[in-house]
Amino acid sequence: MEQKLALVTGASRGIGRAIAKELHQRGFIIGIHFNSSKELAESLLKELGNGFLIEADISSVEGCDKIFEEVKKTNLPLEVLVNNAGFVKDNPLFSATLEEFDKIIAINMRSVWYLTKRLIRFMIRNKRGRIINISSIIGSTGNPTQSVYGMTKAAIDNFTKTIAMELAEHGILVNSVAPGFIDTDMTKNLPEEHKKQILEKIPLKRMGTPEEVAQVVGFLATSATYITGTTIHVNGGMYNG
Ligand SMILES: NC(=O)c1ccc[n+]([C@@H]2O[C@H](COP(=O)([O-])OP(=O)(O)OC[C@H]3O[C@@H](n4cnc5c(N)ncnc54)[C@H](OP(=O)(O)O)[C@@H]3O)[C@@H](O)[C@H]2O)c1
Repeated sequence: MEQKLALVTGASRGIGRAIAKELHQRGFIIGIHFNSSKELAESLLKELGNGFLIEADISSVEGCDKIFEEVKKTNLPLEVLVNNAGFVKDNPLFSATLEEFDKIIAINMRSVWYLTKRLIRFMIRNKRGRIINISSIIGSTGNPTQSVYGMTKAAIDNFTKTIAMELAEHGILVNSVAPGFIDTDMTKNLPEEHKKQILEKIPLKRMGTPEEVAQVVGFLATSATYITGTTIHVNGGMYNG
């Protein structure tokens, strides 16, 4: 059977790690991208039993170029790209800084545009592929203290729509998955009172798990054949698009 590659950015922990496991179960060789969490990435590679690691800071063009080169080296057909890596820094507009702005934009938005732009040549060559961008409920609803984060995630959903139109003729389907309030490092440091307030707004009355997001990515990566250019919300009923 032909081996197919799925590249997952930010696969060391949280949602990306669960996505890597899900896609591995569905038969893909996983390109496990990470930045600072080397030990976690190595433990995932060990757990999966095959695949390969790519260490790169996607906030820089050089980091994204490195990912491109590592994928190229494998000579495996790139079937799935999951743009998952992300960063959040809560700060009200009044006190937010330009440095924070540049960092969030570079990680959550510029890298997605640039990495996708570089990697689609492999999918175009194969006349098939799936691109799944992890956006956020905040890109649709907004959220106090997350003006920049929300902008980047709204941009990802829009990018998804546009490139789905551009790439359809090449057999490439592109979708976003927008998680709500998911139990990962990104949400673990929220003050208890704030968490309680968020939970009250979720009809299912609990946080989601990374695995519940990964299931949807797995479906889009392998089963869905007539869905492209859309955003699928995974949020326990908190927002329905
Ligand atoms: N958790 C939620 O409630 C939630 C809700 C909506 C959307 N999301 C989105 O889901 C995605 C995953 O979130 P998560 O909760 O799993 O986050 P997380 O646990 O904080 O993990 C973030 C991941 O992104 C990687 N990353 C961060 N900065 C990077 C950089 N400069 N270069 C390369 N990789 C970098 C990290 O790699 P290292 O650890 O190796 O540095 C890590 O693997 C993000 O796009 C996030 O915005 C999350």
